[in-house]
Amino acid sequence: MKLKELIESRYSVRAYLPRPVEEEKINYILECARMAPSACNLQPWRFYVVRSQDVMKKIQESYNREWFKTAPTHIVVCKDSTVSWKRTTSDNKDFGDVDAAIAAEHICLSAAEIGLGTCWVCNFNPAILSEVLDLSTNIEPIAIFPLGYIDEEKSFVPDKKRSSLSEITKWI
Ligand SMILES: Cc1cc2nc3c(=O)[nH]c(=O)nc-3n(C[C@H](O)[C@H](O)[C@H](O)COP(=O)(O)O)c2cc1C
Repeated sequence: MKLKELIESRYSVRAYLPRPVEEEKINYILECARMAPSACNLQPWRFYVVRSQDVMKKIQESYNREWFKTAPTHIVVCKDSTVSWKRTTSDNKDFGDVDAAIAAEHICLSAAEIGLGTCWVCNFNPAILSEVLDLSTNIEPIAIFPLGYIDEEKSFVPDKKRSSLSEITKWI
């Protein structure tokens, strides 16, 4: 599939089948995330693949939605702020969130490419996540990605509502 077709066909999946995701598929997705670009190539992302039922329960508590509980696997993308690049010219801005977001989108696109569904989830309680994953203070959870086979009967493909190019672009 061409990249543009993949980008256009990916959508946020909010209904999953209980069928487990094969480890090779999870590894394929993580390999795609690992190859993402990052500032100064510092690769500050850290990935937590959650399949254990005990940990899963706490992850579900951190974002309490029925649909979220249907995913058989979750990948938590974190950034290590002791590793991420800080802009040196002026304001010391930390680009770790940007780097983690690029790796995260590789997760979404590669999952879609191999027929799996994901959804960005950022509206979680970070304290619950940090505790259950035993994260040190320098490791910040950025997003959770439920991952699984799509329950096509319950999942609906939303309209791709996007601003037009003319609304968001200036050619100067
Ligand atoms: C940074 C970010 C955070 C998001 N957080 C959530 C979330 O907490 N819960 C949720 O259901 N969707 C979340 N989403 C998914 C968006 O709602 C979704 O991407 C957007 O509505 C566009 O729909 P599409 O992904 O189907 O194209 C998030 C997306 C991004 C990029």
